Amino acid sequence: MTHAQSPLRVFITGSAGFIGFHLAQRLLQEGMRVHGFDGMTDYYDVTLKQRRHEILAQSAQFSASCAMLQDNTALEGAVKQFAPDVIVHLAAQAGVRHSLENPRAYVDSNIIGTFNILEAARQAQVAHLLMASTSSVYGANTQMPFAETDKADTPLTIYAATKKATEAMGHSHAHIWNIPVTMFRFFTVYGPWGRPDMALFKFTKAILDGKPIDIYNNGEMYRDFTYVDDLVTAIRLLIDVPPPAPGHQSKPLKGDSLSPAAPFRVVNIGNSDKVRLLDFVATLEAKLGLTAQRNYMPMQTGDVPATWANADLLRSLTGYAPQTRIHDGIGAFVDWYRDYYQV
Ligand SMILES: NC(=O)c1ccc[n+]([C@@H]2O[C@H](COP(=O)([O-])OP(=O)(O)OC[C@H]3O[C@@H](n4cnc5c(N)ncnc54)[C@H](O)[C@@H]3O)[C@@H](O)[C@H]2O)c1
Repeated sequence: MTHAQSPLRVFITGSAGFIGFHLAQRLLQEGMRVHGFDGMTDYYDVTLKQRRHEILAQSAQFSASCAMLQDNTALEGAVKQFAPDVIVHLAAQAGVRHSLENPRAYVDSNIIGTFNILEAARQAQVAHLLMASTSSVYGANTQMPFAETDKADTPLTIYAATKKATEAMGHSHAHIWNIPVTMFRFFTVYGPWGRPDMALFKFTKAILDGKPIDIYNNGEMYRDFTYVDDLVTAIRLLIDVPPPAPGHQSKPLKGDSLSPAAPFRVVNIGNSDKVRLLDFVATLEAKLGLTAQRNYMPMQTGDVPATWANADLLRSLTGYAPQTRIHDGIGAFVDWYRDYYQV
């Protein structure tokens, strides 16, 4: 994809969210035009979302709409007016645990919302549509590391099921309308400006407040943690690698998930490393200089004991793979947290 004459125009949904904010910052730094679309849902502290958008708004190259994906008139209007070259769809009802309490929010945002994005991408004839899926789609798989070509037919929560559905919907639109679609499967993203419902944020807050932290499955949990700057670099590079239409691939790649029926591909973005939860907590304690009160709990319904990404395809496509060490990433998060909350 070349953008030598005029800056690339990228429409980002979920731009006030954790990942969308970081991605928008990166693309603006590169001189691109960015339109952010976010409904500012109250799933977590809206002030954090507003603050992220305020920072993005310091760039003259950034514009934004505040509306829900389900409001198709607002979405269609924003896409039409901005006329993007590329759409990166990150807005979603996220979170594995909340999907047990409020499953309908996932169907509304992730299924209806994503359908509206697919239609908007079709009408705008974008050069590339990139959408966020999740490692949760690997569900009950036990073969590790998880590869994109593995079967992923055992989602364990409505969150995972809706994300798997968006992959299928993305494939059908890619096939019928010939829209190049890349689906990312993210693995536990963390870093500054992170999500208050995720472990690192919750643990940091609880430890600083002198409150206990809940450690599920008695600590026998493993996660492939991906530092947000690494993730954003991977997304940035993948923007330039739209999947080719069937019959147009120059040379086959080992382990490619490219569809035989559509310009469609699924790509894991992870560190290719799994960290034990108890080591994660110990690293956080060392950085904070405090000891956590541990509240050992059984495994939560719908949760999985481990995730671990095979990131070979990302490396083959872009020459890049995330590599920030957990110690450095946690350090950057704690520095941000202390500064932001003045603690
Ligand atoms: N953070 C992770 O570890 C992780 C892991 C796997 C997948 N993902 C996926 O990555 C994407 C971004 O996640 P995040 O961590 O930045 O989450 P986030 O909750 O911080 O950001 C999502 C943003 O989307 C907005 N939003 C939600 N539903 C909306 C709707 N219906 N209409 C308009 N806006 C809406 C929210 O207001 C929020 O600002 C999501 O699709 C998520 O499922 C994230």
